[in-house]
Amino acid sequence: MKIAVVGGGSTYTPELAEGFGANAAALGIDEVVLVDPAVDKLDVIGPLVQRIMRRHGSDARVSWTADLDRGVADASLVLLQLRVGGQDARIEDEAFPLECGCVGQETTGAGGLAKALRTIPVVLGIAERVRRSAAPGAWIVDFTNPVGMVTRALLDEGHRAVGLCNVAIGFQRRFAGLLGRAPEDVVLDHIGLNHLTWETGVRLDGRDVLPELLAEHRAAIAEEVDLPEAVFADGLVPSYYLHYYYAHDQEVERMRSAPSRGREVARIEAELWKIYEDDTLDRKPDLLSQRGGAYYSEAAVALMRSLLTEDGAVHAVNVRNRGFLPYLPDEAVIEVSAAVGAEIAPAAAVPLGARQRGLVSAVAAYEELGVAAAVHGGERRVYEALLAHPLVGQHDLAEGLTRRLIATGRDHLPWA
Ligand code: G6P
Ligand code: MN
Repeated sequence: MKIAVVGGGSTYTPELAEGFGANAAALGIDEVVLVDPAVDKLDVIGPLVQRIMRRHGSDARVSWTADLDRGVADASLVLLQLRVGGQDARIEDEAFPLECGCVGQETTGAGGLAKALRTIPVVLGIAERVRRSAAPGAWIVDFTNPVGMVTRALLDEGHRAVGLCNVAIGFQRRFAGLLGRAPEDVVLDHIGLNHLTWETGVRLDGRDVLPELLAEHRAAIAEEVDLPEAVFADGLVPSYYLHYYYAHDQEVERMRSAPSRGREVARIEAELWKIYEDDTLDRKPDLLSQRGGAYYSEAAVALMRSLLTEDGAVHAVNVRNRGFLPYLPDEAVIEVSAAVGAEIAPAAAVPLGARQRGLVSAVAAYEELGVAAAVHGGERRVYEALLAHPLVGQHDLAEGLTRRLIATGRDHLPWA
């Protein structure tokens, strides 16, 4: 089986290679192709991926190319992990909302819309080429942010796509640690929209143990994320992205006085490139764990296994709502624990409460409008999406953000 990774020149790719290498035999991977327009990066990452795969004992063929059609030809699975505009564009996304007193974040709020607007047209172009060249019935697994909106755009165009994020697998590992059990023993009830999710249940041997875990979990994360205790009062566990909602103004204050995450990541990446140039390196370096994508290769490999074998295992994925959350349109894309068999069937048992529903509904409406803005373009659509966003919601703010978004993002917006 052939796998293509679009955005394969990313500093993240060695993480993926560890997962591919460790599971190559089980998954029947005999060919991995890295596709990226940045040939200089491929020339470093390609050989490193090859060495990592060999270290795991895999003799899968590893190749790399800037030619998308050749790269995805006959692939059974195409992973999308690209970043249009690179970290420079991300740094802009994180900066312009702050000028208006809004959180500057790469997927949440106005920064996330900017990213969606420049990314969705590129991803749809790639997906068309996948449709033409990949193996019949090939899956597109989308890691490209904002994952919920990108997946929605792909599904709207009729692609066989599923979106994936590492937030849920992070919780699974955390809870397994608290329970002293293997991660595979822990099944989450994970519900919401990408980067707007809650764990509503934690099933161990079929029993929901979340109520017993809650206090310990809350104490453990208090050090890392400043989520007010009251937020946990209804017994659900919010992802750290909820911090941008529940502590928005504090977060704006903090961001104004600290270097942005994009700048930090650019520094980490510069270091990583130096490390990657060592042509004896055959494993992902520890420094890579300073990126947010922990366990993403495990999530990818586990999902790939289920997509290819239709084994019905439960994964947190981005899929069409189709009535699962009755307060959202069927076409909305939700992130939910789902059994991945011949169909992908949402399996989370414990529903969200009214407080979560309100936020999810508002953000789903924003995402719908944001995807329309990305696909059709136009200042008015950008404004509509921002006005609908619960972190914006006021005319003057939406107008100011629209102006800034278009001014800073113009080079990547085909219609601007
Ligand atoms: C988490 C999110 C990803 C996001 C990443 C950012 O892993 O789930 O969607 O890309 O954080 O990490 P970074 O190191 O780029 O800030
Ligand atoms: Mn994510």
